[in-house]
Parts: sequence; structure tokens; C-alpha cells
Amino acid sequence: MKKVNRIAVVGTGAVGTSYCYAMINQGVAEELVLIDINEAKAEGEAMDLNHGLPFAPTSTRVWKGDYSDCGTADLVVITAGSPQKPGETRLDLVAKNAKIFKGMIKSIMDSGFNGIFLVASNPVDILTYVTWKESGLPKEHVIGSGTVLDSARLRNSLSAQFGIDPRNVHAAIIGEHGDTELPVWSHTNIGYDTIESYLQKGIIDEKTLDDIFVNTRDAAYHIIERKGATFYGIGMSLTRITRAILNNENSVLTVSAFLEGQYGNSDVYVGVPAIINRQGIREVVEIKLNEKEQEQFNHSVKVLKETMAPVL
Ligand code: LAC
Repeated sequence: MKKVNRIAVVGTGAVGTSYCYAMINQGVAEELVLIDINEAKAEGEAMDLNHGLPFAPTSTRVWKGDYSDCGTADLVVITAGSPQKPGETRLDLVAKNAKIFKGMIKSIMDSGFNGIFLVASNPVDILTYVTWKESGLPKEHVIGSGTVLDSARLRNSLSAQFGIDPRNVHAAIIGEHGDTELPVWSHTNIGYDTIESYLQKGIIDEKTLDDIFVNTRDAAYHIIERKGATFYGIGMSLTRITRAILNNENSVLTVSAFLEGQYGNSDVYVGVPAIINRQGIREVVEIKLNEKEQEQFNHSVKVLKETMAPVL
């Protein structure tokens, strides 16, 4: 009998439930187990999601579970933790969330879990590192959502600017999922043409590109100011990563991956392009950055390491 794909979602706040909603509507998994310290909330969300199942493309079993259900899960997606409030940076959350994570990862590992972790809680790069360290799992089996959403935001803005389908926009944000992230303009192409060529032809100028990047980087602040939280974008980004894993897609996504010398850095989880398949992170894709990009990337890693040191 074919083994079913079971995904445990830890944290049933706005991000966790947006992820479940996207997963059900895209028919990605066979089982979604909802886990939350607020058990009534997890139960209520499971009930509500179940009521939409007759309209979904495939059937998904959705129910409230607990940490013991992680033992047979293929993937545990963590969205739990204290969320960002207006005016707070992602890095401001580090002490609170690292503490929550240590207890949570222990409970998940006590269930006998031996699958893949996908971490979304912020600061995501640091909490992915904490998850890897506390779980003892191989680095390939611990993935952070990294800059997948930031890259999507950038592709979306470039698509609007150039009037070209976002699926034909290849652009990446790398580094910290946060204030020190950077765009990789040296490897951006839109409809098979490079940014360099668009600049030369005068179709776009540096200032417009910089404004697009700054808006991308600060998008979460703009959303939090207006609606208090972000959840659909990250929910769909997590769904995209999940599909790459469960369908063994070998997709290149800018997840938070562990570096061992790539991009001149080590012992850090940070957003970089990586090939994602059923094994988790198959490999980090190392593209040649220009001097400015490499400097910005190094700075981003430095900030992550300095922020992370006191909580490890
Ligand atoms: C954002 C949150 C997920 O960027 O950090 O929307």
C-alpha cells in the first residue's frame, strides 16, 4: 500500500492556517495534522478547514493532533512563535522565539520524528539554525522559508514594471530574510534578457530598480502597518516549498540553507538558491556574485551570526 504523505503543522495562527488553506486548495498532501498549544484553536481550525474539503481538488485528511503525531510525519512545518508587531524587526523576536523553539523541537524529536523540518517563524534563518542544532537531524533535512517570499515579491514587482508574466521573471533575493537582505541583480533576467541589457537600452534605470528592491525588502513592514500581520504570501511560499519536496521536483528556491563554505561563509543558515527535492536540500547552488553583492551578503551573514550568538 502506498504510504500517505503526512504533514504536521505546528502553530495554527494566521500563517499556519493560511498554509493549510493553500495546501488543501492545491491538493498537495494527503494528511495535515494541526498542532497548537491552544488545542481548542487547532481543533476549531481543523473543523473549519474540513468543511471546505468537498470543494477541494483532492481529498486531504485534516485533524487536530499533538506532538506525538509528528513521529510518522514526512514533514513538520513550524509556524509557531511570537509574531512581529508594528515597529518590531524580525531580529527583535530572537530571544523569545529561540526559547520557545528549544522546548518545541525537543517535544517533536521525542515523538521519533525523522523527516524534514520546514521552518517559517521569525527570525527564520536563526530559528532554522536552532531547529537543526536542537534536532540533531542532517542539515539537508532542515530548511527555512528564507527569502522565497522576498524573491516572489521582487518577481511580482518586476513583472508589473516590465509588463511581463512573473513566471518569465528570474530574480532572487538572498541573505537574511529581513533588513540586510540583497537582490542579485547580476543574475536577474526578464523574458530571457538581462537587467544589464535593459539598463543599457535605457528601458529601466538604477533608481527605479533600487526603489523596487527597497519596497520588496520593506514589504512586510508595509503590510503589518496596514493589517497587523502577513500570512497569505508566506502561506503560499511554504506551499511552494512543500510541493518541491513531496513531488521531488528539484526546484531551485531561495530557502534558508546551511552553508559550509559556499558563498565564502560557514556555520550559518541563510537565504541562498538551493535545489529542493524529496531529500530536502539536495544542494546549495553557488552563483558568482559581483563584488558589491558578495560584500552585502557577508554583512548579512555577520548580522545573523552576531544576533544568533547569545541565544545558542
Ligand atoms: C514576511 C514575514 C513572513 O516577510 O516575515 O511577510
